[in-house]
Amino acid sequence: MSGPSELLVLGFESSCDETGVALVQCRAQGVPVLHAHALYSQIDMHQAYGGVVPELASRDHIRRVLPLTRQVLAEAGKTLADVDVVAYTQGPGLAGALLVGAGVACALAAARGLPVLGIHHLEGHLLSPFLSADPPEFPFVALLVSGGHTQLMRVDGVGRYAMLGETIDDAAGEAFDKSAKLMGLGYPGGPALSRLAETGDAKAFALPRPLLHSGNLDFSFSGLKTAVLTQAKKLGNDLPARKADLAASTQAAIVEVLLKKSLSALKLTGLKRLVVAGGVGANKALRQQLNEACAKLKVRVHYPELDLCTDNGAMIAMAGAMRLQAGIAQPNRDYAFNVRPRWGLDAVDA
Ligand code: KG4
Ligand code: ZN
Repeated sequence: MSGPSELLVLGFESSCDETGVALVQCRAQGVPVLHAHALYSQIDMHQAYGGVVPELASRDHIRRVLPLTRQVLAEAGKTLADVDVVAYTQGPGLAGALLVGAGVACALAAARGLPVLGIHHLEGHLLSPFLSADPPEFPFVALLVSGGHTQLMRVDGVGRYAMLGETIDDAAGEAFDKSAKLMGLGYPGGPALSRLAETGDAKAFALPRPLLHSGNLDFSFSGLKTAVLTQAKKLGNDLPARKADLAASTQAAIVEVLLKKSLSALKLTGLKRLVVAGGVGANKALRQQLNEACAKLKVRVHYPELDLCTDNGAMIAMAGAMRLQAGIAQPNRDYAFNVRPRWGLDAVDA
């Protein structure tokens, strides 16, 4: 490591429908300390619309971000004077929502003369297991499964990400959400669908496993959603009684594809370590099946702590600290910020 040895980083996340603020202490040696993190989820507000309404999201981030910041500093027993660096999600995400976090982060940093750092949201997810009780070591294969992304990556170090495969249409999280929506399970449907699946028969309906035998590491989930819709229509009035079976069968199809492709990525790279990150990484069935398969192959699997699987500020603070400590990132002090709503992880500085 060529960067500073100890850093207190204030992190902001506002890329979608969650406002996250956190304070992370990182050390070149030893484990990082999550002093405090606070999250406000806008799910209840968007539920009425069946999905995220971008303008409402931006306005709510504005309402929440400063109270959350005060809460985090108070819980940690710190003040802005103790903070070394401010990190914020620069992209990808909703432009207006990103602008709130970026604007507040840069304004606070400017007021205190602190360096500020824009972070890639997916890099935050990817590095979030370093905050867990069982942190990984480089190199590893990463399965990134969020609401908008499904990617397999070879990770050789901070900023050294090589794409192995990704979805050509819907993400796994979208497959969960869209299937759940057409079963009337609300938004976001992933957690609700997986809860319902626990009481259903995963073999009840034969749903497609898209691209399972494609010979590469790409994914496709839009056909699965269509198959779930067709099945739901076929069930008609029987749908309510068979909903748990349909949920279990849908989850089984998604999990099988994620599992098999992850194992193929491990085989291809010869690596013995897998990191699973992003909201879908909270899925119990996925964790259970990955754990079982990887134990047989003597592969170590690492996850973020459950409450840091979905969007949060801690992963952004952590990624900021790791980039600085690796000597990659140059924090800026001119406070001229821009957000990057569309930004590939393979395009981050290394
Ligand atoms: O990473 P994340 O919080 O936000 C993005 O960056 O997109 O991921 C959100 C996604 C949603 O699609 C949500 O339904 C899914 O993660 N998700 C789950 C579970 N918890 C969250 N999907 C399946 N099972 C879960 N337990
Ligand atoms: Zn996310």
